[in-house]
Amino acid sequence: MRETTPQPVFLADYQPPPFLVDTVALTFRLHPGRTQVLSEIRFRPNPAATPGHDLRLDGEGLRLLSASIDGKSLMAQPDATGLTIPAADLPEDGFLWQAEVEIAPEGNTALEGLYMSGGMYCTQCEAEGFRKITYYPDRPDVMARFRVRIESDLPVLLSNGNPVDSGPGWAEWDDPHPKPAYLFALVGGDLVATTDSFTTMDGRNVTLNIWVRHGDEGKTAYAMDALKRSMAWDEQVYGRAYDLDIFNIVAVDDFNMGAMENKGLNIFNSRYVLATPETATDADFASIERIIAHEYFHNWTGNRITCRDWFQLSLKEGLTVFRDQQFMGDMRSHAVKRIEDVLTLRARQFREDAGPLAHPVRPESYVEINNFYTATVYEKGAELIRMLRLLVGEDRYRAALDLYFIRHDGQACTIEDWISVFEEAGGRDLSQFKRWYGQAGTPRIDVTEDWQDGRYTLTLRQHTAPTPGQPLKEPLLIPVALGLMGTDGREILPTQVLELDSPTLRVTFDDLPERPVASVLRGFSAPVILHHKLQSDERALLLAHDTDPFNRFEAGRSLARENLHAMVLQQTTAPDQNFIDALRVLLRDDTLDPAFRALVLRLPEQDDLAASLHEAGHTPDPDMIYDMRRAAQTAIARALEPDLARIAQQMETPGPYDPAARDAGRRALRVQAVTILAHADGGTAAAALFQSAYNMTEQMGAWAALLAIGAGEQEGAEFYRHWAQDRLVLDKWFMAQILHASPDHAVPLTDELSRHARFDWKNPNRFRAVIGALGANPAGFHRSNGTGYQLVADWLLRLDGVNPQAAARNSAVFETWRRLDTNRQSLIRAELQRIAGNPGLSRDMAEMVARMLG
Ligand code: ARG
Ligand code: ZN
Repeated sequence: MRETTPQPVFLADYQPPPFLVDTVALTFRLHPGRTQVLSEIRFRPNPAATPGHDLRLDGEGLRLLSASIDGKSLMAQPDATGLTIPAADLPEDGFLWQAEVEIAPEGNTALEGLYMSGGMYCTQCEAEGFRKITYYPDRPDVMARFRVRIESDLPVLLSNGNPVDSGPGWAEWDDPHPKPAYLFALVGGDLVATTDSFTTMDGRNVTLNIWVRHGDEGKTAYAMDALKRSMAWDEQVYGRAYDLDIFNIVAVDDFNMGAMENKGLNIFNSRYVLATPETATDADFASIERIIAHEYFHNWTGNRITCRDWFQLSLKEGLTVFRDQQFMGDMRSHAVKRIEDVLTLRARQFREDAGPLAHPVRPESYVEINNFYTATVYEKGAELIRMLRLLVGEDRYRAALDLYFIRHDGQACTIEDWISVFEEAGGRDLSQFKRWYGQAGTPRIDVTEDWQDGRYTLTLRQHTAPTPGQPLKEPLLIPVALGLMGTDGREILPTQVLELDSPTLRVTFDDLPERPVASVLRGFSAPVILHHKLQSDERALLLAHDTDPFNRFEAGRSLARENLHAMVLQQTTAPDQNFIDALRVLLRDDTLDPAFRALVLRLPEQDDLAASLHEAGHTPDPDMIYDMRRAAQTAIARALEPDLARIAQQMETPGPYDPAARDAGRRALRVQAVTILAHADGGTAAAALFQSAYNMTEQMGAWAALLAIGAGEQEGAEFYRHWAQDRLVLDKWFMAQILHASPDHAVPLTDELSRHARFDWKNPNRFRAVIGALGANPAGFHRSNGTGYQLVADWLLRLDGVNPQAAARNSAVFETWRRLDTNRQSLIRAELQRIAGNPGLSRDMAEMVARMLG
């Protein structure tokens, strides 16, 4: 709870730690209400800092039982955030700190520090949770060797590193790799493991365990498979091998984020571990694969090389996201993966960058660092690395990474360190590129063309609109991949990368046989908003013939967006015939990857349309967008009914279920076909698919298709009867109904489901499945009477009292409020002010609403 106004922390104020830690020995006596934590910490003065500092240790919510220095007990007086030992009481060349504290994991509903979930003990320390376990310099640039003893009657007791020894009621662990406290982890519970092994390229035999609650042991096979493939991939592609004898993964039901890369002991939200064909969708399988890989990859990019301070968060997160994207592309399809990644980037990061929560990939200040685990730090951070690779080339990228690992292994680093290895290995100055890390906002690129006497001129202009605290923007170095297509569909100029490094860049091409069709920003070579006016037949040409799969997709998407914009702005009820014709050609092209066809067939989401209308200077009307998107779907369904029906048949996968890309793509296209078809056939095909489905992808897809046309009640009841005992599937049951509810039904339904006996709102997954789902139903959430805003604000306030981090994260549903009409704006402003005025507000939430109110 907030006692004083929380002060922001500034990057510019960074000071090296006055004391370093060599070793930490911890003993835990686990007890739900009274866990004792004994610590022995060897400190020495940091030669890189000025001498004579007091010792400041972070600590929150701890009951200090005793403390001593070099065996001499002392009377430390803790304050709300830690304790200070005056320099005068500290031996000059190092000392042993010993302390005994008591904590209550059972009452820890914030899920930060040591807490309990479903009867087991677990931890979450990133970013600043370790200070809720014991007194410590809780900052990532203090790296130490940890040894841990756990005392408890629970059968499974785990911590970081390698097991030392264990006996009845105790276990000891030793982690030989120095690490910051945020990578500390402990687990205690009655758990069951799936065990396997992996031999590293340097011959180390590693035991792999995935620990779950009894009853879930049949759901770990895919996660284990993904782990082994991740380990092999990191060796092959980056030359990085695992460095301990054991790798443990634990699934917990109550977890604020996706997962956590604690050294040798990754802790996961159970939704990113547990899967069977019957209970998990293809999208779930893909998330598991990606997140298992992501956390594993952190062992090098994050753990061996960590961040100097939390402003550098993207150093590990952007890089690790980029690595997991490369991995997924290799495992599945690069073309499809790139399209999906860009869709996510636009839906989450562009949205963030366009509103009051915009911040640079490396922020300059924060009040609560947990509020900066964002799409900007993660996904835009990954885009910056993708651009760097494009700018220096694949070979020099690998050389830069080798240099990074050699030079910085065991260190806590900065973005400057990162840029330096690219300058050295890439042989070029990157000071302008570095602006990407400090400048918020999505650049816009305007493309204009000129064709005269056989000379084709392309002009690119960049502009970045102001963002909070950054009124003026400097030109960025933007790699723009370009190709030219002939009107017969042949490529005239293969991909080349232009470097747009000033406000304007003009390029000319002589001796072209005809005016070409430019394919700009191939592969989405930079995270920008591209404005390039083309005729619809030119877009259709790119959709049919571009050699770049991303831009093929993008041509279809632009056509769809332009059609929907026209429908919304002119209130016509049908898209152009040539758009429908282009979709038909695509649908019938059986040489195309089904996954690709599924993506092109999916119309831009309501939120995408709202954002793009706003970007084009209009005030988006959520109801109109909802109506027109449906009208477009209906028109497409009627025009393409026979083709869609054929696809729905043709894309049947015989089984047994295979989560790999080939079958997943077929299911995606099948579900997409049935979803559109429902707008013409009243849901007949979807109802049939629901009944025949042998996997969750098709069952869920079919049910959602029915819900979207106002049907599916019987199927919902059947679904509940069948799955009520499976907590992860139950989340889907809650979520789908709200996500697909009609605009006038969404709020009352959310309200009703929030009274459901199974709405366990303290569980972050369940909260997201209900309250979060309303926010993801734009026409429902943005009811013009404000009931959606009120309901969400009430729940945010309630959640803030028990789990500030989760509440703050969910509050971002309001981030787009300034693009709405004045009525909705004032309704949301009132709710944000109501939240802000709450006396007991957490600092997590206080910071979020203050930023949103601007
Ligand atoms: N480092 C984790 C990951 O990206 C995320 C953990 C963040 N947790 C938090 N409470 N902020 O894999
Ligand atoms: Zn991460």
